[in-house]
Amino acid sequence: MKTSIALIGFMGTGKTVVGRALAGKLGKEFIELDPLIEQKAGKPIPEVFREDGEIAFRELEIEVTKEVSQKKNAVIACGGGLILNKINIDRLKKEAVIVYLTTSPEVILKRTSNDTEERPLLKVANPAQAIQELLTFREPFYQRAADIAIDTSRLDIDSAADQIIARIKEHEGLNQ
Ligand code: S3P
Repeated sequence: MKTSIALIGFMGTGKTVVGRALAGKLGKEFIELDPLIEQKAGKPIPEVFREDGEIAFRELEIEVTKEVSQKKNAVIACGGGLILNKINIDRLKKEAVIVYLTTSPEVILKRTSNDTEERPLLKVANPAQAIQELLTFREPFYQRAADIAIDTSRLDIDSAADQIIARIKEHEGLNQ
């Protein structure tokens, strides 16, 4: 039986806040990939994008995902683009159920509009358009990777965590 949970989904879908609440409820370790990537890079993510480019960032993401995917009993909040490299999902799936958090583009825009500094992919002239284009491109990757999908648009953090717990129980029931 898998003991870890990996949260995937676009920027602003609540992976970090919901993940932390979920880990608290389940008594699991909470791990966020972005800070681990920054540690490995020795600099903040925007600097990695600016100085080394997105491909270098994705390479670091692959390395960190490989390390974290061995963890048991963890809730792992993944970066929004982790699904672009299938190897990440293949590795995570060994120990983790993959939960896809979805949110409407409007809510994503609202939630991310204050911190585009931290999110280089949305630091563009027209973030709404960037969100729409990235979502359209990525949707099939998220769908393919997900064991379970949950729309968090209308859920507060606590209810989203509860819903994940309920859906994982259902999912495990189906797999028995
Ligand atoms: C990215 C999402 C970010 C971070 C990086 C790239 C993406 O993580 O990994 O800026 O490609 O969607 P969050 O989803 O935690 O914001």
